[in-house]
Amino acid sequence: MNISEVQSEIKKLKKENDICILAHSYQTHDIVEIADFTGDSYALSKLAKTTKNKTVIMCGVRFMAETVKMLSPEKKVILSNPTAGCPMAEQFDIDTINKIKQQHPGITVAAYINTTARLKTVCDICVTSSSALKIISALDSKDILFIPDINLGTYIKNKLPEKNIMLLDGGCPVHSSIDVSEAIEKKKAHPEALLLVHPECRPEISEIADYVGSTSGIMDFAKNSSSKEFIIGTEASIVAHLQYECPDKRFYAMSDALVCKDMRATTLVDVLNCCKGVGGEEITLDSDTIKKAVKCIDAMISLGG
Ligand code: 13P
Ligand code: SF4
Repeated sequence: MNISEVQSEIKKLKKENDICILAHSYQTHDIVEIADFTGDSYALSKLAKTTKNKTVIMCGVRFMAETVKMLSPEKKVILSNPTAGCPMAEQFDIDTINKIKQQHPGITVAAYINTTARLKTVCDICVTSSSALKIISALDSKDILFIPDINLGTYIKNKLPEKNIMLLDGGCPVHSSIDVSEAIEKKKAHPEALLLVHPECRPEISEIADYVGSTSGIMDFAKNSSSKEFIIGTEASIVAHLQYECPDKRFYAMSDALVCKDMRATTLVDVLNCCKGVGGEEITLDSDTIKKAVKCIDAMISLGG
């Protein structure tokens, strides 16, 4: 079967089997084309609450599939490729967080959505890269522990000096591997280009960027901008999507190292197999974990609008 035949088969099977396919913006174009919805982590979380289908296939990484399961426990939720995890989601354990809570009574624990469901059980609220500033600024509490991403945390801390934000030394191994010197070199090579970066990049990079935002935020900014050239400081798939959607503009990767192997793990054939009921992994979470962890997601959605 060629790509379009596989895509037609997926479209047929998802109708027959009442399946909704959600794809994170980092997925490849062939998957985006058969998805019912593509977006950043925040948009996918909100959508997970409203989709009516009996089965949801999440093309992304494990914490995203867990979020769908928490918001719709009655649904069958399948992670398209069982190996697709986000390394950042597992950087801290419950004991570490509980110890800090004991040492700082009353502190609010805000978790980046890139955390496991288990870790969310000891947190108060979640944020995504697109909702972080709005949500943290709206919190009653001044004292906040933000986990796990020190780069996103530093970005929030710099923007909200009125808050007392404690950070731990976690982060995305892909975005945080890029040094500011690479961004400066790219700017020199493309002097007309605007630099658009994800807040998971190091703070020195966010400081010299023309725009800092989520994956969808970066895409919307580039599409709506009157500028013609852009350096993209996030996963390379966004460069490819933008180049496809805006053929009259030029997009350059900030670094060739911006490739997330977990986000690339899912193939179109994985999605086909999930639709046939023979692939992927069905997400199961015990009711106690769901009850405790979903509060963070609900709090995020109610404060994030
Ligand atoms: P968004 O929240 O921008 O979709 O990003 C998720 C992610 O994993 C970025 O690396
Ligand atoms: Fe996790 Fe980084 Fe990959 Fe995003 S790019 S899924 S934060 S490892």
